[in-house]
This record gives sequence, C-alpha cells and structure tokens, in this order.
Amino acid sequence: MAEQASLLRIGIVTISDRASQGIYEDKSGPAIEQFFREALSSPWQAVYRLIPDDQKLIEETLRQLCDEEGCSLVVTTGGTGPAPRDVTPEATEKVCHKLLPGFGELMRQVSLRSVPTAILSRQTAGIRGRSLIINLPGKPAAIRECLLAVMPAVPYCLDLIGAPFVTTHENVVRAFRPKG
Ligand code: MTE
Repeated sequence: MAEQASLLRIGIVTISDRASQGIYEDKSGPAIEQFFREALSSPWQAVYRLIPDDQKLIEETLRQLCDEEGCSLVVTTGGTGPAPRDVTPEATEKVCHKLLPGFGELMRQVSLRSVPTAILSRQTAGIRGRSLIINLPGKPAAIRECLLAVMPAVPYCLDLIGAPFVTTHENVVRAFRPKG
C-alpha cells in the first residue's frame, strides 16, 4: 500500500450513560488522547464523541466517524462488559466488515495481570472500509494498558487498509512492520 502523507484523524468515543448525562466527568476519552499525544510522532487530530450506551446510536456514531469524518482509527471506551446496557461490542461487530479478534484476546491477556475482572470485558476490534475500530474498557486505568499492548501492530494494520502512514515515538511504542 502506498504511503500517504495525509493527517490521521482519530475518533475517540466515550460510551457511558452516566458520563453522557454529566453525572460524572469523562476521564477515559482524555486518557486516550493523552496516550496518542505521547505515542504518535506523525501528525494527527482527534474527533470526540460522548454518547450513552445505546446500540443504534453507537453504530451511527461509528459509521459517521469512519465514513463522513474520515477517521482511519476509531477508539471506543466503555460498554464492553456483561451488564444489560453494555452493547459496544455488538455495535462494533454490526458496523465492521471484518473482525480482528486478536486485539481483544491480547488486551484481555494483558489486563488480567492487573485485574481478574478483565475476563468480563468483551472488547473487540475490526475494520470498516479504511478504518480500524478498537474497543477499550471504560476504566481510565485500562486505557494505557490496553493501548500499549496493541499499538505495535496498529501502524501496519493502517498501512494494509490504505490509511495514512503513522509513525510512533519508539520510547513509548515500537511499531512493527514486517519487512518486504
Ligand atoms: N481491563 C483493565 N486493563 N483494567 C480494568 O480495570 N476492568 C474490567 C474489564 N477490563 C478492567 C479491565 C471490568 S471490571 C469490566 S466490567 C470490563 O472490563 C468491562 O468494562 P466496561 O463495561 O466499562 O467496558
């Protein structure tokens, strides 16, 4: 895939009934932005959304970020657990053309080192067109842990789907691109 010099747009979607009603402050969305500020050396721009745990609205938001806002990477936080209102993985699966189950497997594996309840997260990832969507749990503490685990493979995944060429600060994330 040819290298593109264009700006990477990153959709950051906090999915939480309570944060979207202002009952508590969204700490996870800003934690995702902070992570990318530290990890990426190529130019990027965040596009934020803060929405309730409503499956149709989540699907609509993901479609809009991928298809209209031009976000090549969309990271969600929240709604991955077993509670009745947790529907982020269902919405993600619905809008994705291909699923990448390895992301969820790795993030759960890494998270299990910190909390036994990591098995409760059904987080997944997938491709919609030229966009990669990744689910993270809602806990702010999970953000850095999960993103550090999967980020080495993200730039190459973005290359493969025709997204902008992304470089990282190697002291934070060492991007792996297979030779040839
Ligand atoms: N992963 C990490 N790294 N750290 C955490 O604190 N919390 C777990 C799990 N994964 C957690 C984690 C808990 S308690 C739940 S219920 C699930 O993520 C789902 O969280 P969510 O519904 O907020 O997405």
